[in-house]
Amino acid sequence: MSKLRVGVLISGNGSNLQALIDACTHPDYPAEIAVVISNKENAYGLNRARNSGIPAHVLDHREYVSRKEFDDAVHQLLEHHLVDAVCLAGFMRLLSPEFVGRWYNKLLNIHPSLLPAFKGVHVHEQVVASGVKFSGCTVHFVRPEMDSGPVIIQSVVPVWPKDTAEDLAARVLEQEHHCYQQAVRWLAEDRLMVVDEKVTVKDTASSSGALTNPV
Ligand code: GRF
Repeated sequence: MSKLRVGVLISGNGSNLQALIDACTHPDYPAEIAVVISNKENAYGLNRARNSGIPAHVLDHREYVSRKEFDDAVHQLLEHHLVDAVCLAGFMRLLSPEFVGRWYNKLLNIHPSLLPAFKGVHVHEQVVASGVKFSGCTVHFVRPEMDSGPVIIQSVVPVWPKDTAEDLAARVLEQEHHCYQQAVRWLAEDRLMVVDEKVTVKDTASSSGALTNPV
């Protein structure tokens, strides 16, 4: 059976990208990474991709006159590499509603909190400052509003009284890697059904078409 061709968008370290690269090395994993695109030329994740023989491109958003032009260029590159689905993995740019619509229910993001709590940036600082006792991570389908969309999988970690933001980030990141591998597996197996903006993981794959844009 052919594998789901995934494009990964990054801006930095790319440890989540690495988790996906590692998963894809297993012969029975149903996805493969077709291309990695970074909006930052110094993103370490580009090395991770190149070390694994994956095409890696830099599209610097500052070289485009508008968000639309940048998003169009990203879209064209994804199409060129025959991508079926897109993973945002530490990609620090908001994507236009048009781009999100083009990849409707084929565009995943990972966020280092239990959404809808603690959206945005400096998440672990926010969490530690708030005094909550648990945090975690979320993989979700992307909608135009930042850090919103149907939740696919979450993992919970404790927040200990003496935690720094760095302590918590490391604990959450470990869970992120597992969650992203699992979410992409489910997507590739066609097991994610979105109804009323809620995700159900089906026991077996079917071609119900439930992931098609209803609009
Ligand atoms: C992760 O914490 C992810 O949830 C957030 O940005 C970070 C990226 O880390 N969106 P990495 O580049 O995958 O190591």
